[in-house]
Amino acid sequence: METTFTRVENSAVAEEYRITVPAEPLGSANTRPSPIFRKAITMPKGLQAGLQTGERRTMSKVFVNIGLSLDGYLAPAGMTMENPGYKNWGAKWSALMGWLINQQYFREHLKFGPGGETGPVNDLVRITTERIGANIMGKRMFDQGERAWPEEAPFHTPVYVLTNEKRQPWVRPGGTTFHFINDGPERALEQARESAASRDVRIAGGADVIQQYLNLGVIDELEIALAPVLFGGGRRLFENLREPGPQFRIDQVLAGPAATHLRYVRL
Ligand SMILES: NC(=O)c1ccc[n+]([C@@H]2O[C@H](COP(=O)([O-])OP(=O)(O)OC[C@H]3O[C@@H](n4cnc5c(N)ncnc54)[C@H](OP(=O)(O)O)[C@@H]3O)[C@@H](O)[C@H]2O)c1
Repeated sequence: METTFTRVENSAVAEEYRITVPAEPLGSANTRPSPIFRKAITMPKGLQAGLQTGERRTMSKVFVNIGLSLDGYLAPAGMTMENPGYKNWGAKWSALMGWLINQQYFREHLKFGPGGETGPVNDLVRITTERIGANIMGKRMFDQGERAWPEEAPFHTPVYVLTNEKRQPWVRPGGTTFHFINDGPERALEQARESAASRDVRIAGGADVIQQYLNLGVIDELEIALAPVLFGGGRRLFENLREPGPQFRIDQVLAGPAATHLRYVRL
């Protein structure tokens, strides 16, 4: 794949780093990013072609796609449905995920109704969602979602939940089935890969589960939406990592209005 070195305009991150981007721009004629993003928001040619034609790729990737606070937290302190008022975690969560809630594709996908932003961030959300063939998550993320997600859970794929709890699969309308896995992260990944076929496996979170997969060295890509909010505490993403940790290079940077979208690829 041909790559070029460029400096992404209008990005604080770009002041600090030189960024490697694939040469081909993302987006159809209708959704072409504005010139400012054109270099930043790019995808490998093969992936674009596959997404446009519905054709399956042969290489399945394992990737993380999450929102992160500026001080490195995946979730604010005390975030549980049982304790909605604790340290105003609801407002912090909204500040973390505000960029996503407003995207047209996301709103449509979750049946929030019409409207929403279009443009490069929306394209990114669509492409990320469409590449997922299976999800893996931890039991704490699931426990919150079980109470908060609509009946048609927003995954539309098999979801493998790492847990010590024994439970039968939970089938939701719209193609989401939660499978409860008691025999470890490797086994969950094996099953997820099988379900995903040539689509990709997303490690959906939370921090505990992402850390386990980082320690196994199987995460190919880290996609982080870095929101300009400070939590001062909560579930820290990058801790409990073994030495030597996995190494990544910067692949893409997209400066959105409410988050900086960073993509890292394993070396
Ligand atoms: N910012 C984002 O984009 C984002 C994305 C996802 C999640 N989140 C947030 O992250 C938070 C949850 O993260 P977390 O790190 O606290 O928890 P988590 O990773 O969601 O779940 C951890 C739990 O999963 C089970 N588990 C994990 N690995 C296991 C294994 N190998 N074998 C058996 N069971 C295993 C254990 O529960 P049991 O022992 O009870 O089974 C463990 O306590 C939530 O607040 C969620 O909203 C944020």
